[in-house]
Amino acid sequence: MARVLIVDDEPKLVTLLKSALAHRGHEVTGAAGGAEALSLVTDGHFDVVLTDLRMEPVDGMAVLAGVREHCPDTAVIILTAYPEVKGAVDALQRGAQHYLTKPFNFQEVVHAVETAAATVALARENRALHRTVAQLGGGPEIIGTAPATAELRRLLAQVAPADATVLIRGESGTGKEVAARALHAASARAGGPFIAVNCAAIAESLLESELFGYRKGAFTGAEADREGLFEAARGGTLLLDEIGEAGPAVQAKLLRVLEERKINRVGDPLERQVDVRVLAATNRPLEAAIRDGSFREDLYYRLLVFPLDVPPLRERIDDIPLLASHFLARLGRREAALPAASLPRLRAHPWPGNVRELRNLVERAHILAGSGALGDAHVMLDVGARARSAAPAMPEDLDLDRNARALITEALRRAGGSKTAAAAMLGITRRAMYSRMKMLGMDAGPEL
Ligand SMILES: Nc1ncnc2c1ncn2[C@@H]1O[C@H](COP(=O)(O)OP(=O)(O)OP(=O)(O)O)[C@@H](O)[C@H]1O
Ligand SMILES: [Mg+2]
Repeated sequence: MARVLIVDDEPKLVTLLKSALAHRGHEVTGAAGGAEALSLVTDGHFDVVLTDLRMEPVDGMAVLAGVREHCPDTAVIILTAYPEVKGAVDALQRGAQHYLTKPFNFQEVVHAVETAAATVALARENRALHRTVAQLGGGPEIIGTAPATAELRRLLAQVAPADATVLIRGESGTGKEVAARALHAASARAGGPFIAVNCAAIAESLLESELFGYRKGAFTGAEADREGLFEAARGGTLLLDEIGEAGPAVQAKLLRVLEERKINRVGDPLERQVDVRVLAATNRPLEAAIRDGSFREDLYYRLLVFPLDVPPLRERIDDIPLLASHFLARLGRREAALPAASLPRLRAHPWPGNVRELRNLVERAHILAGSGALGDAHVMLDVGARARSAAPAMPEDLDLDRNARALITEALRRAGGSKTAAAAMLGITRRAMYSRMKMLGMDAGPEL
């Protein structure tokens, strides 16, 4: 059962539609014009509003605008005479779900109303679920009391309520995604979705249709219209992770979204308004990418509205005990902390893999200790990492490929298998590492 409002200045049409929809079990209200409709929609009672476009003095566009403003959860379907299709397209761009041209048959109307009502119900359910999950998890938390962490938390709280684009910078494993989730949770969009896309993990053409959606027939395999993540994240936040890896076509489209808040699905001339807060993250300096021509400078400045730097773990070593306790608790360990005897070693370690490295260390200790007590011997640092800054000795084996293979294997091991982190250690992009691995005949796994 859906709650439907029918708005038309032809009373006969209202009566007919009312009875057709009531017959299907819907709760239907009629309004004789735009003004009456506007007075009825303010409280968000309706699931679907079905409105004529041309009415005097308040028209369908005004009804649509009122609904969008007061109850964005309500779907609007436009009824219009054939010659006014252009008006209907305008209405779609302003957030109407669908339009029907007169004359129409009742089956068509019933179908449109029920489809729209189902979408509305799904969106509400989704939002409620998001809220529940956020509460259950206690919300994403930036753990740590070190001054650098406190400063990060302070900046984050400051920028969260604004709808500004935020560029999150930091080394691999520092918690950029954690920061992005915390930002979303502290924003007015917390009830909406949070979606993260890794621009490095997806080939460019796929990334484009993933982000922006596509129209049926836009390319082989596009068998039906599909919305992209910019639309799926409506009312919420979209994190563009590893933004520096996005290709030129995607960069051009991103610039347009940030400037005009508009997108086109691939192969679709219809412009769509997007209602998304954009966050971007990067673990390599974009300035270098601008210099080598792989990143647009204008996009960079759009993203730089508010930079947020997540400090490396070595600049907030006071956080180590608390973070470790957090990870121990997540593993269900009875020990509330790592052994005090391990602390000096942990504090002296350079942590090239940052918080992720610490999490891996805690997991390793958990496995090594098994059901016994967790002791200092189980806390195994990756000591090889310390020698990294020393000048490399000339290896005995001078075979380049073999050395490259060994380097990549070692980086992957230190990064706990994360290709992104391993590539960062080697100072190359994830994609470059992937193709290098393939060239060297290593098992690179799927590129995704
Ligand atoms: N302050 C923190 N509190 C709790 N957990 C954290 C914190 N920072 C990082 N983590 C944990 O460390 C791991 C790495 O964090 P995250 O994925 O956010 O890093 P990242 O900076 O996005 O890394 P990458 O550059 O590789 O994408 C995750 O398991 C995350 O849960
Ligand atoms: Mg990340």
